[in-house]
Amino acid sequence: MSVLRIKVLTCILILAAVFVVMTDMAASASDEGGIPAKRGVLLVAFGSSLPEGQAAINAVEDAVRSAYPDVEVRVSFTSRIIMRKIAREQNKIIDEPAVALAKMAYEGFTDVVVMSTHVIPGAEYQDLEAVVDGFKLMHEHGTKAGFRYIALSKPLLSGGPDFERMAQVMTSTYNRESGNGAVIFVGHGTHHFADSAYSTLQVALWQRSPNFFVGTIEGLPAYDDVLAQLKKTKNKNVVLAPAMLVAGDHATNDIGGSEDDSWKSMLTAEGYNVTPKFVGLGQNEAVRNLLIDKLREAWGDNAP
Ligand code: CO
Repeated sequence: MSVLRIKVLTCILILAAVFVVMTDMAASASDEGGIPAKRGVLLVAFGSSLPEGQAAINAVEDAVRSAYPDVEVRVSFTSRIIMRKIAREQNKIIDEPAVALAKMAYEGFTDVVVMSTHVIPGAEYQDLEAVVDGFKLMHEHGTKAGFRYIALSKPLLSGGPDFERMAQVMTSTYNRESGNGAVIFVGHGTHHFADSAYSTLQVALWQRSPNFFVGTIEGLPAYDDVLAQLKKTKNKNVVLAPAMLVAGDHATNDIGGSEDDSWKSMLTAEGYNVTPKFVGLGQNEAVRNLLIDKLREAWGDNAP
């Protein structure tokens, strides 16, 4: 064999080897270490034991399933009180996030996005973040409990364009229903700094309409703040709508309940015609789309 022929042959062999390596790399992008990707979404909600509350969570779950038909979707709750109640009354076991994730790791899931359904990045969200970080750390340490990819999606009002988008969704949802009256969105509210998100949402809403208000049960703006602003307008008709994923206990009692201290009763006593709505944000298709966008963001380059 001539020297030239040996050189040509060597070249071909090197090229072939490079080709094999590259094909292999392409395969392992979705198939690291020969393990096929098993993707999952863990939807996390505070939880609800009421059928109306469950309906909101189910609606979000269905939306995730239709956005990602090939991804397994599981649901976990953060309220142990609610989980115990469901276990007792409905004989149904729902896991909290850490347990649900441990089970998914055990079952061989490789890529998981934990889906937050929180409205604001408050204490509940931070707790969930700590759990997700724990699983990230376990992966870095090479334990079996980790995932190749794990991410947490952001809450509805996390910053930037979220407020504008939410204000747009809420005004378009309630513009017709309010019959030119006022609409008050009542959020949960918290002592956590993230409570400021409700005030930011209020500003975004007022940029669209003077008749849309935001109040909270446990934070700011409080009931009195909303009432003071409402009185400055000529509104007599008021729609009360929960700004929570689920229209659960707070919606049926604190907001739209018949007790003297519910928002409905207090506003009625002030002379307003009050119509409480008992639908959570999860039952609003446009809000579900916002949540799916957050989920998509969390998948990043690992999108299924
Ligand atoms: Co509460």
